[in-house]
Order: sequence, then C-alpha cells, then structure tokens
Amino acid sequence: MKIAILGTGSVGRTLAEKLAELGHDVTIGTREVAATLSRTEPDRMGTPPFQVWQDKHTNVLLARYIDAANGADIVMNASNGAASLDILAAVGAVHLDGKVLVDVANPLDFSRGFPALNPVNTDSLGEQIQRAFPNARVVKTLNTMTAAVMVNPAMLAGETTVFVAGDDAEAKQTVRDLLQSFGWPTGSIVDLGGIDGARASEAWLLLWIRLMGPMKGPFFNLKLVQT
Ligand SMILES: NC(=O)c1ccc[n+]([C@@H]2O[C@H](COP(=O)([O-])OP(=O)(O)OC[C@H]3O[C@@H](n4cnc5c(N)ncnc54)[C@H](OP(=O)(O)O)[C@@H]3O)[C@@H](O)[C@H]2O)c1
Repeated sequence: MKIAILGTGSVGRTLAEKLAELGHDVTIGTREVAATLSRTEPDRMGTPPFQVWQDKHTNVLLARYIDAANGADIVMNASNGAASLDILAAVGAVHLDGKVLVDVANPLDFSRGFPALNPVNTDSLGEQIQRAFPNARVVKTLNTMTAAVMVNPAMLAGETTVFVAGDDAEAKQTVRDLLQSFGWPTGSIVDLGGIDGARASEAWLLLWIRLMGPMKGPFFNLKLVQT
C-alpha cells in the first residue's frame, strides 16, 4: 500500500521504518523539505536531525505534507497534536476524502508548563479531526504507548493492549490488519467504539506521562485482564 505519514518526529520515523520493512511504499510528510533536511541539531526531545535518519532509510521518501498525502491509500497523522488540525488543513480535504486517516497524535498542551490535554474530557483531537474532515475515515490508535512499542509489542514482557476507535467499521478493520502486521495479536486489540472513544485513549496520556517516573522510562504499556 502507499502510505503517507504526516510527521518527522520519532513516531513518524518509527512507523515509516516498520511499514517500509513490511513492503509498503512510504512517504513522510513535513512542512518544508529543505528546512527539515537542513537541521543539524537534535530536537528538544533529543531526536537526531532528520537527515541522519534518512541516510539510513533511503527507502522512505520525504515530501511536503500535501505531496505525501496525494495518492496515498492510507494517511497517518503522527504530527504534534497542537499543530495536527493545521497540518491536515494544509493537506486539504481533497487528499483525505474517503481515505483511512490513522490518528496517532495526542493533543498535549505545555502552555502552562506542565503537560495537559487540550481538548479533553468532552472532546478529543480524534473527534476534532473527524469533524473537520467528515469524509475522511478517522481511526484513533497507538497513541497510548511509546513509538518503539507501537511497532514491536513483543519488546514488552507479555501481551499488552492497543485500542482502536472510529466510526467506520471497514477503516477499523484496515487498521486492525496493520496492527496485526506490526505484531499485535488479535486479542490484544480492543475496540473502544466510535471516534468519541478517542476521549478515553487520549486521557490515558495524563497517567502515561506520570508513569514514566516510576517505570523509569517509556517502555511499558497498559494490559487489560479479566476474570
Ligand atoms: N513520542 C512518542 O513516543 C509518542 C507516543 C504516542 C503518541 N505520540 C504523539 O505522536 C505525535 C508525534 O510525536 P513525535 O514525538 O514523533 O513528534 P512531535 O515532535 O510531537 O511532532 C513532530 C511533527 O510535528 C510537526 N510540527 C510541530 N510543530 C508544528 C507546527 N507549529 N506547525 C506545523 N507542524 C508542526 C513537525 O513538522 P516538521 O516536520 O515540519 O518539523 C513534525 O513533523 C504527537 O502528537 C505525540 O503526542 C508520541
């Protein structure tokens, strides 16, 4: 499949590497190709400059957001949550209509110094995207864990849980298939229902961020167990 990943950060790169390894035709989207390739310093999270990564991943293309999405079968939003709506607007509805739009982003808001969510509680980024692009088939998934775990769930001890939420059953099945190709067993994929389920999976971020301390890093995940 031809897959566009909007976002050059660690999530975009991790998803791109895995999808290319699985044989997909992958293009990463960015604001300005030349600006992204000319960066020489790691970002504030310590992620190395894009060019350093690209040199080792020549099978993944880099293009402007709109060019990456043009002609893609699936579009994945792996952009900064505060910028996601603007980025998707730059892509344009014409390149999103009818497509599966996999939303991996979280609407983190650092404006008050501590990590908060905006929107939260009665709305979510997933729903905002679905409302802004009513003909896109938005599926929220993978936003509840660190990038490395998204594409390699077996790196954790035991089977853990990944959520899907979206209004379109067929789109959710496409995403389930993708998740299974990443190594998520069928039973580990939990369907939260419609796209309003994104409120719940995004809200988990508050606890997830807090847990990085006691867990001594990001390599953990939620596991649902029943009697
Ligand atoms: N890091 C994780 O492990 C993790 C786990 C789960 C979910 N998430 C979520 O996944 C998303 C991606 O996270 P990340 O850490 O890989 O990258 P990030 O640093 O949150 O986002 C990087 C991308 O956002 C774009 N961007 C940032 N500010 C922008 C602005 N003002 N206007 C337009 N574009 C802007 C950048 O564009 P350029 O390419 O042009 O620079 C870049 O492509 C986020 O929503 C995050 O909350 C992250």
